[in-house]
Amino acid sequence: MNTQTLLTGQTLTFHGDPLVQPWQDCVRIDSAGAVLLAGSRIAAVGSAAALKAAHPQAKVISYGDDLICPGFVDAHAHYPQTAMIASWGKRLIDWLNTYTFPEEARFADPDYARTIAGRYLDLTAANGTTTVASFATIHAHSVDALFEAAQMRGQCVVTGKTCMDRNAPDDLRDTVQTAYDDSKSLIGRWHGTGRAQYAITPRFSPTSTPEQLSALGALWGEHPDCLMQTHLSEQPDEVAWVAELFPEARDYLDTYEAHGLLGARGLYGHAIHLTEREIDRLAEVQGRVIHCPTSNAFIGSGALNLPQLAARGVPLGLATDTGGGSSFSMLRTMAAAYEAAQHHGGPLHSAQLMWLATAGSARSLHLHDEIGHLNAGHYADLAVLDLRSTPAIAQRANRADDVWEDVFATVMMGDDRAVRATWIGGAEITAS
Ligand code: GUN
Ligand code: ZN
Repeated sequence: MNTQTLLTGQTLTFHGDPLVQPWQDCVRIDSAGAVLLAGSRIAAVGSAAALKAAHPQAKVISYGDDLICPGFVDAHAHYPQTAMIASWGKRLIDWLNTYTFPEEARFADPDYARTIAGRYLDLTAANGTTTVASFATIHAHSVDALFEAAQMRGQCVVTGKTCMDRNAPDDLRDTVQTAYDDSKSLIGRWHGTGRAQYAITPRFSPTSTPEQLSALGALWGEHPDCLMQTHLSEQPDEVAWVAELFPEARDYLDTYEAHGLLGARGLYGHAIHLTEREIDRLAEVQGRVIHCPTSNAFIGSGALNLPQLAARGVPLGLATDTGGGSSFSMLRTMAAAYEAAQHHGGPLHSAQLMWLATAGSARSLHLHDEIGHLNAGHYADLAVLDLRSTPAIAQRANRADDVWEDVFATVMMGDDRAVRATWIGGAEITAS
């Protein structure tokens, strides 16, 4: 028989999409809740009193007034950029050439890839993040390194070999054929093995020839259950460069669509500077826009109009975009999402922000039946948040009129100090 563990505290549950329905109908906090874990899964969620009575043999861990929520799901990151996060003074293309490509070149060394993969998963777990969708580098072994590190932790990770066959340094370029062959062999080795999920990964249109995009589109056609991750319309200069490189394309999104790289399992990072047609098309095919607000502020890309995209029916996820993003913390990322939406007159409620960082991102990865919710049957991937983690947060939270105001103080001012515990696959993660 499985040993069962009962975690008691305040519990956060979702009952709909709070970006399209009133949040009050979709998100609930039970102030005396509990989550029952059996093995790697959640066995039940309910009131602490009822679950204690029904499962007297379960080991009880009391988290007091802490908030037990689904583990954070970071839907767009670059684990190879861990060591060069917070690199000063550049905008996108310069930033890639000056800081990012030299760092990614270091991943030619498999030992370096393994070191950074482990460090990255430790840092993200310390921030309450239990699943990431991360770009790797062009080196196939950089994918192995992240999947192996995740496997050791029982963790669900989405990643894929980044493909680039132009506009990148010599040592970071593959070819049409090697991009296809290496990606295909990695899919065979990893996709669906344990909790590993493969994402076909053209970096972005400027660094792939049309032939490489087509080859990767064909590969996606052969493996339609894989995700596909890329970047879209992050900075105006980049959009103009794409127009030069693809003169026949209607717009940036069309450079993907024309090569078989548009679909509901497509994850499009940033997507700030979209045309009306692109918004309509993303909504039509349910292509996922992944909002990267700390990165958008840090690299000077702009403020995504998330309320507009949500109203137009574009499915949204939330992400750090480490290391263009300036933090590993999804709490810091929620704060930045709030601030970006304020630029567009659409303040997001703390219930909406918590949903975006968990269930919304899980849905964007098509993993919402497994993660992102405190639901029986889901993986026991959890974050436990101390809502009084610093004196500044505590004094503000003590003034709160209701639990949502209380949560908002942590959303706006919290970081890894607010993460009391992280559970992945039913096991509490301890710092290594
Ligand atoms: N566009 C293409 N590559 C990248 C990257 O590594 N980070 C960001 N923020 N944008 C990109
Ligand atoms: Zn990115």
